[in-house]
Amino acid sequence: MVNTKVDLCGITLDNPVMAASGTFGYGYEFAELYDINMLGTFSFKGTTLEPRFGNPTPRIAECREGLINSIGLQNPGVDKVIEEELPKLAKCLHKKVMANIGGFSVSEYVEVSRRLDGCEQVGWLEINVSCPNVHGGGIAFGTDAAAAAEVVAAVREVATKPVIVKLSPNVTDIVSIARACEKAGADGISLINTMLGMRIDLKTKRPIVANTMGGFSGPAVFPVALRMVYQVFESVDIPVVGIGGVSSAEDVIEMMLAGATAVQVGAANLVNPYVCREIVEDLPAVMNKYGIDDLSSIIGGAHNG
Ligand code: FUM
Repeated sequence: MVNTKVDLCGITLDNPVMAASGTFGYGYEFAELYDINMLGTFSFKGTTLEPRFGNPTPRIAECREGLINSIGLQNPGVDKVIEEELPKLAKCLHKKVMANIGGFSVSEYVEVSRRLDGCEQVGWLEINVSCPNVHGGGIAFGTDAAAAAEVVAAVREVATKPVIVKLSPNVTDIVSIARACEKAGADGISLINTMLGMRIDLKTKRPIVANTMGGFSGPAVFPVALRMVYQVFESVDIPVVGIGGVSSAEDVIEMMLAGATAVQVGAANLVNPYVCREIVEDLPAVMNKYGIDDLSSIIGGAHNG
């Protein structure tokens, strides 16, 4: 009998497998397909203070080994999330959920965090300073160590729950940003968000995505994500959540060896909505195959010796 439990900032997860924000809605949509309580948990769609319609369409471009999205933080706004989405989720998820929080100013991050922090169902606040698809928000904070730290410190002041900051790979020095966030009071780091990319339609000779560029994710980014998780694990003393191109139980174990305490599955949910369930089901056999009894014992294992 293997042990798949991990501790993420003081909350025990049955297993480290989480669905990533923006690929799992507010959870109840996937609960129509399978019992989502079998997951470690998931992070819900990036939520802002006001409702957002999102970017013009087309918002998606297919790529080899992945896809580009430019959704633009479409969401119903924090009050509707609390009044309508979370009660629907409560009927099908009986564990804590991660709240993904977007913003266009420090005060917006603070206010959305304060409101979601008050929700019993919310276990962690995931501060998204890395959305590449909006102007003047998201990534504008996550590509500058001082700006990211300012957001984290301000949210930390009002939050009672663990604050996990979601970082962008579109930077030259991920370590300095992770360290600045830790110093500002972050309880954990999640990474990576999507990589800025684009595609051009040969027939129209114009960018496929209406916003010209978007965030690239999928299996192709896995080695980049793994490298950044490895670097950040070496540089901070807070838990790291690994995200980027994960689509199998083997990928989860590789991420954990690099330093991830938990692992989020993103784009793969859009290809196969059952993928998180399959990964959770496959984990024990893959652990047995590689002689692993206890998943938490392998966190950062690739750094030893
Ligand atoms: O465009 C979007 O809503 C994406 C958000 C993100 O990547 O954080």
